[in-house]
Amino acid sequence: MSNPPYPEINSKRLWRRHLDMAKIGGTPGGGVHRLALSDEDIEAHLLLAEWAGVHGFSTDLDSIGNMFIRRAGSDPSLPPVASGSHTDTQPLGGRFDGITGVLAAFEALETIHEAGIETRHALETIVWNNEEGSRFIPACMGSAVYAGGEEVSDMLAREDRNGVTMGSCVGALKKALPQAGSRELGAPIASFIETHIEQGIELETNGNTIGAVTGMQGYRRFEVHVIGEDAHSGTTPRARRKDAFAAASDMTRALRELLWDEEDEIRYTVGRFEVLPGGISVVPGRVNFYIDLRYHDAGKLDALGDRIPEICRAHAGPCEVEINEFIRQAPMAFPESMIAGVEQAAARHGFPHQRIYSYAGHDARHAARLCPAGMIFIPCWRGISHNESERAEPDDIAAAAQIVTDMLIDQAV
Ligand code: GLV
Ligand code: MN
Ligand code: MN
Repeated sequence: MSNPPYPEINSKRLWRRHLDMAKIGGTPGGGVHRLALSDEDIEAHLLLAEWAGVHGFSTDLDSIGNMFIRRAGSDPSLPPVASGSHTDTQPLGGRFDGITGVLAAFEALETIHEAGIETRHALETIVWNNEEGSRFIPACMGSAVYAGGEEVSDMLAREDRNGVTMGSCVGALKKALPQAGSRELGAPIASFIETHIEQGIELETNGNTIGAVTGMQGYRRFEVHVIGEDAHSGTTPRARRKDAFAAASDMTRALRELLWDEEDEIRYTVGRFEVLPGGISVVPGRVNFYIDLRYHDAGKLDALGDRIPEICRAHAGPCEVEINEFIRQAPMAFPESMIAGVEQAAARHGFPHQRIYSYAGHDARHAARLCPAGMIFIPCWRGISHNESERAEPDDIAAAAQIVTDMLIDQAV
């Protein structure tokens, strides 16, 4: 697969590690349900730390629950050259979103270590906490806090739907890993490369193994609370109702019209819609729903997102509506040096490759605030992701891990 000084990764071991990880939170449908810092997610962290210990790599945690597995370099004054992703999944998610980037990074560390290659910079596998944002809002919490984009105290106070705080979960992770050292938030990183399944169909359609990611589209997310009045469904005529569901469905319908484009490039999703109190014979007095809007052009994303509050208010009828934009990220571009680094390594090994844009969000967005960052995409069967059927091929995963290995060597020696 490669010539010295780039040692060949162990693809069998890498695939075995995927299978081992897929058992943690594995679902009957063949997927993985491993919400951020749940018992299962903590177990995944422990397994990684155990594998790290075999080689004498150290494990550190920071105050927002990011984990750093480190192979020391010969010059301790230099910042680490890093790779990684996340171990958490969506509810009933897949076996590859996140963990593939963590395991590719860890395989690179092991390969370089076993080849006896000394590097000046330390090498790190980073597990960013709560990338998916489905248990705790917002997504990419760990990487955002590390890079200074969110306040740590605010994020630690965030609660899941059962009132459990992120702070208590980070405490549980620290308790489960008493041997872990501590890492300062924002401590310098020399560079960061993240492997991820594409979650789209471009690589598969083009028959390419590797995508050198050029940038990421932006997104805006809103929570909308529609407040009406609970009422008896048999005795309350339409004229006296304050039906929060009726108002919310008018809002989401009007937004669908606003956010419809011929080119099919605007991404508008309502992925959570709660009707309360939830009685079949109760006119609902409350609806909470969440809007995820994504687009690749900053100006148009701004303009479209700015219309959301006005559209919701216009369709509130007799109800009240509260709208809060809880996260906003502009489209971003990765530096040319990292894109070219992926292409060069892919060419070296004869992996068919192309440049590709990311329509999903990833931790590398935040890492890019601290250091040169980039991403490697691999094909994802039929583009299916955030789904138990998510699938990636062992050979493609191995190709990405080989590129990570090469890039870590290039940047760390
Ligand atoms: C990441 O999971 C995203 O929603 O883009
Ligand atoms: Mn992911
Ligand atoms: Mn995801």
